[in-house]
Amino acid sequence: MPREFDQFTITDEVIDRFKNTPNPRLKQLMEAVVRHAHALVQETQLTETEWSFAIDFLTRTGQTCSDRRQEFILLSDTLGISMLVDAINNAVPAGATQSTVLGPFFVQDAPVAQNNSRIDLDDDHGGQPLYAEATFTDLQGNPIESAKVDVWHSDEQGNYDIQYGPDASLTRRARFVTGKDGRVTFWTSLPAAYPIPYDGPVGQMLAAANRHPWRPAHLHYMVDAPGFKHLTTHIFVNGDQYLESDAVFGVKKSLVDDFPERPAGTAPDGSIVDRPYRHLVWHFKLPRLDQMLPGASAAPTSRSSPTG
Ligand code: BEZ
Ligand code: FE
Repeated sequence: MPREFDQFTITDEVIDRFKNTPNPRLKQLMEAVVRHAHALVQETQLTETEWSFAIDFLTRTGQTCSDRRQEFILLSDTLGISMLVDAINNAVPAGATQSTVLGPFFVQDAPVAQNNSRIDLDDDHGGQPLYAEATFTDLQGNPIESAKVDVWHSDEQGNYDIQYGPDASLTRRARFVTGKDGRVTFWTSLPAAYPIPYDGPVGQMLAAANRHPWRPAHLHYMVDAPGFKHLTTHIFVNGDQYLESDAVFGVKKSLVDDFPERPAGTAPDGSIVDRPYRHLVWHFKLPRLDQMLPGASAAPTSRSSPTG
């Protein structure tokens, strides 16, 4: 006789079908997916129309992805899943700089730059000059040499370079390598707040929920130094109206700073500036790998896939 399942018995039966999964982590993850997905259907008493809509939404989310756009990451970001995964995997010791979301605008091979150079190579977008100084040290304050530091940010209209089309040149992004003093300094223009891409399914979800798509202004930093925990983070501009309601939940209090205005004149690098400029001085503190708290991973690349 064929076995028959009803709404009270099907969940256990589906979970049982995964009992021979050889990879224990994959088995655990698949069982949890089934348990939680079935619980969602039960809790909401999901209708067939709603389930069809959900499948269509996920289909459109996939169809919106391309080599220049990742709608599933936006979905994860706007549902707070990216920051939940970050919180679980990137708990750092007291005093260490905290991490936040990577976002979709990182580019692998950014132009290499030297300290005190200007990284906003097209000045036609205007924006107030910004001099950004950063020191990278261990938790005891010893400078970290040979750290690779990527920086990238929006222009004063809230756009990243790669949003200006496939032929746009890379600007407002650079890769530095620290010397013995562990310092990275550059000139650029003050970033502005911007909406995450909202012309796709994720934007429709936000609109349907009366949620705005805005992120507060920030500079992105990504740091890789041998023997240290990988760091992906932002420094947010204090006073931004979206600090309290970031569309992707990425703000941490410890990552907000004033970017104070300085008068025209001689800047800290000795150059002469003909108008008022903003000044960021930031001290990044990285834990050594053996100082990491249990459960935290050393670097994004060290994570193994449950199917691999
Ligand atoms: C960003 O900061 O670049 C970003 C993060 C998450 C979603 C969209 C943009
Ligand atoms: Fe950003």
